[in-house]
Amino acid sequence: MNLAPLPALIGHRGLPSLAPENTAASIQSAVDNGIEWIELDVTMAGDESLVMMHDPDCRLFKQPDIKLAKLNKDALKKIDAGRWFSDEFAGEPLLFCEDMLALVRKTGVGLNLEIKINPDLDTQRQVDLIWAELQSYTEMFDRILISSFSIPALSHLRSLSDVINIGVLFEKVPSNALEITSTLKAASLHCDQSHLSQELALTLSEAMPLYCYTVNDTVTLHKLLSWGVSGVFCDRANADDLKAIVKEH
Ligand code: G3P
Ligand code: MG
Repeated sequence: MNLAPLPALIGHRGLPSLAPENTAASIQSAVDNGIEWIELDVTMAGDESLVMMHDPDCRLFKQPDIKLAKLNKDALKKIDAGRWFSDEFAGEPLLFCEDMLALVRKTGVGLNLEIKINPDLDTQRQVDLIWAELQSYTEMFDRILISSFSIPALSHLRSLSDVINIGVLFEKVPSNALEITSTLKAASLHCDQSHLSQELALTLSEAMPLYCYTVNDTVTLHKLLSWGVSGVFCDRANADDLKAIVKEH
């Protein structure tokens, strides 16, 4: 499937330097600040609601540490996903996947949806439900890239669709990474920049587009771009000092 080019600076969880991560406010803030592509995390609650959250618990919200697998949509709707960030965002609701997709369509922003498999729930079921939600957005598939650290989740997604764009995520890139991306017919490889050497970056980026997380400083950005990395997930993707480095390359 054709994939529209991703920019060198991808908003990590939206624009979390200005708004609480993975919320509508974070998406809107990214769009308002000219960010063309964002990465967001989706996971599943106990009643199979798909919700935009990084972790399958409520630690981020300074609430009692309740597992997401124990919660349903009504309980999730009561969570304040903004107050932990600042008073300005108090009352910001948790964002559900269906509302996120509608907002992405409305704003036209490119989406890297990272599937965070909830380990307390069935992997294939989570992928099935995400895939079902995406069915109303097929016309946007050139601006949607689905990634995950879970190879079983990505394998299942590929079994459901030949056309969806897949990005394979690794913390530390294994020696058989390119075999994995080839088997999955992946469009891109994503990894933690802190484990990446120049030699490995050059090899990987010659084979396919390589994106690294999380990069917020000019020195690391410059280094990675000179190693052939196509882009980075960034908490302040609107920042002028980072944009200046991108312009140099
Ligand atoms: O998708 C890139 C990056 O978001 C992966 O790490 O923990 O920030 O979701 P994490
Ligand atoms: Mg992520």
